[in-house]
Amino acid sequence: MSLIKTAAQLEERLARADRNNRSLGFVPTMGYLHEGHLSLIRRARAENDLVVVSVFVNPTQFAPGEDFESYPRDIERDCGLAIQAGADLVFHPPAEEIYPSGSSTAVEVTGDMTRKLCGASRPTHFRGVTTVVSILLNIVRPDRVYFGQKDAQQAVLIKKMVRDLHIPVTVVVCPIMREADGLAMSSRNVFLTPQERKSAAVLNRALQKAEDALRSGLQGGGVSMLEAVIRDEIGTEKQANIDYFQILDGETLQEISRIVPGRKALAAVAVKFGKTRLIDNRMLSVE
Ligand code: PAJ
Repeated sequence: MSLIKTAAQLEERLARADRNNRSLGFVPTMGYLHEGHLSLIRRARAENDLVVVSVFVNPTQFAPGEDFESYPRDIERDCGLAIQAGADLVFHPPAEEIYPSGSSTAVEVTGDMTRKLCGASRPTHFRGVTTVVSILLNIVRPDRVYFGQKDAQQAVLIKKMVRDLHIPVTVVVCPIMREADGLAMSSRNVFLTPQERKSAAVLNRALQKAEDALRSGLQGGGVSMLEAVIRDEIGTEKQANIDYFQILDGETLQEISRIVPGRKALAAVAVKFGKTRLIDNRMLSVE
């Protein structure tokens, strides 16, 4: 049995596996695993002696009216896929295990970084993410924890939290896995109608156009011109409802006016198709 429900069971299984003398990699997820998640698990497998995957649809990162109840779930399938990709143990706790009755502590990266991009339209989201990730890190106590570049702002905030709180873990950020037409893999893609699914390829196409424009040198690295390229391309899809498109400094998420050599810029987009909100991003740089 590799499916574990409580922190105590996990501790006991890791002790039996001699965790103190072995390196431990951890991949936190909300389940409904796809190739994006599996790429993180494979990377953790390659870099560690033991691999723990968590599957927990974290209620505190969903605002009322968001898709917490309808978020897709299939723990049996997830467990099989995680083990196949190299996980030793799958931690699937009930909400009471993570948030015991009366729990009232949150972890929040304060300031601007949390309030822009996804933080603007989902103001309580990242507080839920940093809180659950710090709880999970305290339970699992891994040497390395794996996140996807797909959720670029989440990765930046987690790295900041780990640094600020001196959490003894190495944060590894892995590349975005995409479908054949460039759509970034996401558990939420299953909500798209066939027509929306087709339109959704516009996110990657828009980011690609911005990168091409930057490479062609026409924009001279000017961010507002590149943002206009993104907006215009997304605008070609009738079904696409833009939440944001923005190019920021890739590390600090501060506003920039140009992309300069030696610093990565993050081009990030969020678009709604019907009720489904999708995000995507690309790191841009110039020589
Ligand atoms: P979830 O959306 O399930 O994603 C789990 C991890 O998989 C995240 O680090 C995410 O960036 C990564 N991921 C998702 N799609 C990916 C893709 N197409 N390519 C590469 N990596 C991808 O992110 C969360 O869950 C939650 O916020 C969590 C961190 C688990 C806290 O609840």
